[in-house]
Amino acid sequence: MSPPLLQVNDLKKHFPVKSGLFGRKSEFVYAVDGVSFEIARGETLSLVGESGCGKSTVGRAILRLFDITAGQVILDGQRIDDAHPGTMRQMRRRVQVVFQDPFSSLNPRMRVRDILAEPIRNFGLAKSAEDLEVRVTSLMDTVRLPREALNRRPHEFSGGQRQRIGIARALAAEPELIVCDEAVSALDVSVKAQIVNLLQDLQSEFGLALLFISHDLAIVEHMTHRVAVMYLGKIVEIAPRREIFAAPRHPYTRALLSAVPLPEPGAQRNPIILKGDVPSPINPPKGCRFHTRCPLVFDRCRVEEPVLRAVGTEQWVACHLEDGTVATSG
Ligand SMILES: Nc1ncnc2c1ncn2[C@@H]1O[C@H](COP(=O)(O)OP(=O)(O)OP(=O)(O)O)[C@@H](O)[C@H]1O
Ligand SMILES: [Mg+2]
Repeated sequence: MSPPLLQVNDLKKHFPVKSGLFGRKSEFVYAVDGVSFEIARGETLSLVGESGCGKSTVGRAILRLFDITAGQVILDGQRIDDAHPGTMRQMRRRVQVVFQDPFSSLNPRMRVRDILAEPIRNFGLAKSAEDLEVRVTSLMDTVRLPREALNRRPHEFSGGQRQRIGIARALAAEPELIVCDEAVSALDVSVKAQIVNLLQDLQSEFGLALLFISHDLAIVEHMTHRVAVMYLGKIVEIAPRREIFAAPRHPYTRALLSAVPLPEPGAQRNPIILKGDVPSPINPPKGCRFHTRCPLVFDRCRVEEPVLRAVGTEQWVACHLEDGTVATSG
């Protein structure tokens, strides 16, 4: 059996920060603190959770934008967290990224033609100048932008069109996995839907896998195969779309979902309001990290950290309530 396209094993990323008077105290932000998951070829895994829970840090670790603190990132059976420079180059080609704001990630002085040609040249994908031209023009067709637009610069496009350029640039490298970090979050509702549809079309056309990072569960619901829910640097639940949306098991997942509007006009869920703020990732709570805000907290949660347990064939939950033992106090 071939390995999954991507395997992330017990990934940790702790950022050193200075704090205290005159910045004399050294502490760590436990941004990602022991995260494991897999993505199959052609699969979309969505990573959701409130701001600051570590979603982008997971994405950046996979893109190898920094050294990780601990754990492993394995692409197609090969470790990329400590790969040799030669292998690293190929790995970088195989995993591409689309960011939220293509304006800041697209060089404003470059024409679209050059923006798209750059990765093709960098990775030595074109056999000739003609081949380069064919690739660049067909990328425009793929993301449904007019070929004339090749001679324009990023500021001449709307937000949705710029995001298409960002997607075309990612595709230029012929990747197997694209990390989409809030790729549609800044767009208007109708444009959002168009870009999501485009991503889905590209996925089936090229057999692409997507790590779809989003805080917007309403968007995720329409396009993902599986969902991983993060809270303060950990995955608290991971399951196929149907299970997450129809039978969420973690109290945090339930609270997040209760805030998602229902499609039928006038219909409303019973929102679960979580008390308090998200604690600081510099000093995360002992035991279950969610215990300070959990409506179902009991004694064990304050002292013992729950591990991810299978509660179905493909559903995993880190909650003591799913342990089979009954809670004794509130
Ligand atoms: N370079 C850095 N140095 C120090 N702390 C960082 C750094 N990058 C991220 N962090 C911190 O790590 C935590 C996780 O950040 P991250 O950007 O991964 O969250 P996120 O889930 O993507 O949030 P958002 O939904 O707002 O994009 C946050 O507390 C953030 O402030
Ligand atoms: Mg982020």
